Amino acid sequence: MKTILKASVLTIYMLHMCFGTDSQHGVSSRKLQRIKKEVAGYKDVAKSIINLAVYGSAQNRSYDRLSLFVDTIGNRVSGSDNLKKAIKYMYNALQEDKLQNVSLEPVKVPHWERGKESAMMIQPRKKNLAILGLGGSIGTPPEGISAEVIVVSSFAELKSRAREAKGKIVVYNEPYVSYGETVQYRSRGAAEAAKVGAVASLIRSVASLSINSPHTGWQDYEDGVPKIPTACITIEDAELMARLASRGVKIVVQLQMGAVQHPDADSFNTVAEIVGSKYPEQVVIVSGHLDSWDVGQGAMDDGGGAFISWEALSLIKDLGLRPKRTIRLVLWTGEEQGGVGAHQYYEKHKKDIGNMDLVMESDTGTFRPLGMQFSGKPEARVIMSEVMQLLAPINITKLYDNAEGTDISFWMQAGVPGASLLDDLSRYFWFHHSEGDTMTVQNPVWMNHCAAIWTVVAYVVADLEEMLPR
Ligand SMILES: *[C@@H]1O[C@H](CO)[C@@H](O)[C@H](O)[C@H]1NC(C)=O
Ligand SMILES: *[C@@H]1O[C@H](CO)[C@@H](O)[C@H](O)[C@H]1NC(C)=O
Ligand SMILES: *[C@@H]1O[C@H](CO)[C@@H](O)[C@H](O)[C@H]1NC(C)=O
Repeated sequence: MKTILKASVLTIYMLHMCFGTDSQHGVSSRKLQRIKKEVAGYKDVAKSIINLAVYGSAQNRSYDRLSLFVDTIGNRVSGSDNLKKAIKYMYNALQEDKLQNVSLEPVKVPHWERGKESAMMIQPRKKNLAILGLGGSIGTPPEGISAEVIVVSSFAELKSRAREAKGKIVVYNEPYVSYGETVQYRSRGAAEAAKVGAVASLIRSVASLSINSPHTGWQDYEDGVPKIPTACITIEDAELMARLASRGVKIVVQLQMGAVQHPDADSFNTVAEIVGSKYPEQVVIVSGHLDSWDVGQGAMDDGGGAFISWEALSLIKDLGLRPKRTIRLVLWTGEEQGGVGAHQYYEKHKKDIGNMDLVMESDTGTFRPLGMQFSGKPEARVIMSEVMQLLAPINITKLYDNAEGTDISFWMQAGVPGASLLDDLSRYFWFHHSEGDTMTVQNPVWMNHCAAIWTVVAYVVADLEEMLPR
């Protein structure tokens, strides 16, 4: 996941203000009755999906498939050989699963390689610093950079001490507020440090828990601002250097990074379908991204989301169901660099936007599910609320606002309804973009539930008589 989490309460409040009480969110009570009746007609189908995914022969399948995949391939950063192997693996697996129209759509993705890297505090005493270079960072000269450190806790402090920063390594020890708010130190910390003449920057990892773990991620240089090497350090080391600095102790760090930016590489979005029976040209997309960072196994980000999306098509096929519209699985590539594969997919397919019914992405984990997040017109939201009631057998019926997902954002910005899985995020940023993102954090029972929700929503929306209003 690369995007920023948003609040949703205001939107709900405003909808109530706009539509009052005699019509629900702009839908007349007669139409609402008709929608309720149509959706309620899917109760038995929903139950059979839930039974198969949670209690039946497909129990733990998405988890088992994911573990085989990540144990075999490992992590899959954009441009890497591992990502190529992963795409080939999935192409074969989807064909073996007898899904329709299995295909690879070519795109170009960034190819950044971290190379060898290390950091050492050499004054006031020698201490190894665990680091991970940030995606897109330049390397240091081969002999490395040795410089005095200035520790700041915010961009405002950096500005006010700009004169002290020249020629130094800026260490950001920003407090963790939330991912959405704190991630700005990772994404533009190097550019801000370069503006005041720093020679490198080290960012306290954007994580809600650390056992001396660095957490990488993409960062952006700014046009017209010098590029300086940048890496994340652990919360423990950022706090250590902040305490030393507050006592007036001089700190010197030696940083070595072998990072290289290669020319863009060939890659593919991986696609498979269950072709619709009545309106095959109309599409519901279910998706997750196949690429990951180059640490851990990429099991959580976003192996879980990718594999419950595959599971949705498998469950529908196993039950012999065929919705009126096409359900299309897309496993995006190059998500971590800003939805690169998904953006090219959008550019190629936007001419068919009138046929895009709903875009779904799961990219914030597959932990204990809480419900679905939805972006779309109030009239469409009413329908989605009814669809969620079909998940009463597993008691996960809540619909939230503001769907998330870098890869589906291009369609949502153009007005297509979007949906994302909301799960218990309390542990997500413990593991995010770190060596800790492994199969060990996944839970088969939660994945079964996530897959059930994902499948019921995709199937029912794809089978309703009309497309979602937009
Ligand atoms: C699925 O996983 C759960 C939790 O580990 C386990 O109790 C259950 O027996 C598994 N089911 C199958 C079919 O392997
Ligand atoms: C997808 O599969 C269906 C049924 O197998 C076929 O009729 C259709 O031509 C295929 N579409 C594409 C784009 O390959
Ligand atoms: C259903 O979920 C809600 C939270 O959304 C919880 O408060 C309630 O206790 C659950 N009910 C059952 C029967 O598990």
